[in-house]
Amino acid sequence: MPPRRSFLTLGAGLAVAALSRRTHAQTNRISEGKETIAMLGTGKMASVLGKGWAAAGHTVIYGSRAPGDTRVTDLVRESGARASATTSKDAIARAGMVMFALPWEPVKDLLPTLGDLGGKIVMDPMIHIPPTLKEVDATGCNPVSVGEQLQSWLPGAHVVKAFNTIAAKTIVDPARTGRPISIALAGDDAAAKTRVAKLVSAFEGLEPLDCGPIRAARYIESLLLLSINYSVANKGKRIEFFFRAHVT
Ligand SMILES: NC(=O)c1ccc[n+]([C@@H]2O[C@H](COP(=O)([O-])OP(=O)(O)OC[C@H]3O[C@@H](n4cnc5c(N)ncnc54)[C@H](OP(=O)(O)O)[C@@H]3O)[C@@H](O)[C@H]2O)c1
Repeated sequence: MPPRRSFLTLGAGLAVAALSRRTHAQTNRISEGKETIAMLGTGKMASVLGKGWAAAGHTVIYGSRAPGDTRVTDLVRESGARASATTSKDAIARAGMVMFALPWEPVKDLLPTLGDLGGKIVMDPMIHIPPTLKEVDATGCNPVSVGEQLQSWLPGAHVVKAFNTIAAKTIVDPARTGRPISIALAGDDAAAKTRVAKLVSAFEGLEPLDCGPIRAARYIESLLLLSINYSVANKGKRIEFFFRAHVT
């Protein structure tokens, strides 16, 4: 992994410089091993992650309900030569890793239409906001997380909770927060987490943090409570999460 730089000052000039360094860092990583990633959805998260991973040398296949729509073909063009779009089922059949960049609510009904996910690494950035949490009631925390639920529905897949604690716009420009951001991971398969951690590191300024088995998804997802409460208390201002291990 390349050395991390510190982000002391924000501003347009630095953002441009950061972008150029990021592109250089991503180019250097192209030879380190490439994944084929089915990117389910073509919204905010799919767009930033898909473009970033394609720029880092991975193959990105967007899975969309409307792969021929102009907004999807535009996204494919903007993602470069390593990107394409098809149906979600076809994208999954051709990929080893699957990113569920989808709203959580329709997923249960979608799963039977997606084909065989056995043996695939499934990345889950999804957030479920219970109605009580929308009213900022901290007791609305789910007893079982989205990540655990998804793993129980897909016992043959390796679910890794990832990217749910960061805003899409910060993934493209982590320098705006002033320092590297931790991306908390949770999953039962160590090898799957290692591969997802490499995809986190494809974005300079993001750092993977292994938080343990998929059960830890409930703790990671609970950070949303903190994030929303902070935002409400601070006139819509957002926080991002930086975790630092003790130096031993
Ligand atoms: N945005 C963020 O900053 C952020 C941060 C952390 C976590 N997340 C989580 O990441 C996930 C994606 O967020 P997002 O902001 O990218 O959402 P989004 O912009 O609304 O995009 C979701 C995509 O999912 C597909 N989709 C929407 N409804 C669907 C349905 N009923 N059935 C099948 N596919 C459907 C659509 O793609 P097609 O129309 O091409 O099928 C859509 O572009 C969510 O679970 C969200 O909570 C988001």
